[in-house]
Amino acid sequence: MRFDIFTLFPAMFEGPFSDSIIARALSAGIIQVQTHNVRDFAEGKHQVTDDYPYGGGGGMVMKPDPIFRAVEAALEMSARQAGADQADTAQATEEEPLFISTPAPCPIILLSPQGRPFDQRVAAELAGHERLALICGRYEGVDERVRLHLATDEISIGDYVLSGGELAAMVIVDAVTRLLPGALGFEAAPAQDSHATGLLEYPHFTRPPSFRGYHVPEILLSGHHGRVAQWRRHESLRRTLARRPDLLARAVLGKKDLVFLRTLGWEKP
Ligand code: ADE
Repeated sequence: MRFDIFTLFPAMFEGPFSDSIIARALSAGIIQVQTHNVRDFAEGKHQVTDDYPYGGGGGMVMKPDPIFRAVEAALEMSARQAGADQADTAQATEEEPLFISTPAPCPIILLSPQGRPFDQRVAAELAGHERLALICGRYEGVDERVRLHLATDEISIGDYVLSGGELAAMVIVDAVTRLLPGALGFEAAPAQDSHATGLLEYPHFTRPPSFRGYHVPEILLSGHHGRVAQWRRHESLRRTLARRPDLLARAVLGKKDLVFLRTLGWEKP
């Protein structure tokens, strides 16, 4: 899978992508990541990428032109003047002809706090693509024409405002990569992760069995696979009910799960 990341700060990605699972996935050829510096596509001696907002107000807005040109170059989407037979020429004027790009070969995702919320289901959906383009916004915002006429999707990683979309892009690359076959090696199973099942994960313990007087639950030492599996399922349900009851309404629950949850006082809404 290939990620093309459009940013004013490509160096931000060097550290996070040079270690652990992402680094392994890169060297195993499971993913390729290419950052594109949007500034390289800005015109003029100073290669300006932002400007004052029309209508006034504080902050700067990222100009559309460098972003369009960076994305079109990387994705080989030629921008051509709309022909006379095109319906959308209605908006074109003599001074400013209308340019349209050839269709995107992959999702072009604008990272912004206004996007659809990112979660494990969206990660799984994105992992189904061979290529993703991620546009990292900065400053106060991005010219609306990027959202309207270039991006095909807009994603937020949470209800808070980051200084830019770079950290959001890293989160998406990480969450998507770990779902790709081979990315975690043989030892780990993403299917068991918190959220993958629609529930929070059960608690984990490793050796020693007693640490500073704190003991590992007896059942995990029993070697009884069936009872361990049941304990894990119960803990997963118990934890989800305590911390994220909103998830239970959407989770796939069996009869036994419902019986157990009822003992904890939960009723199916
Ligand atoms: N850029 C700024 N804040 C963001 C957020 N919460 N998610 C995605 N991109 C962002």
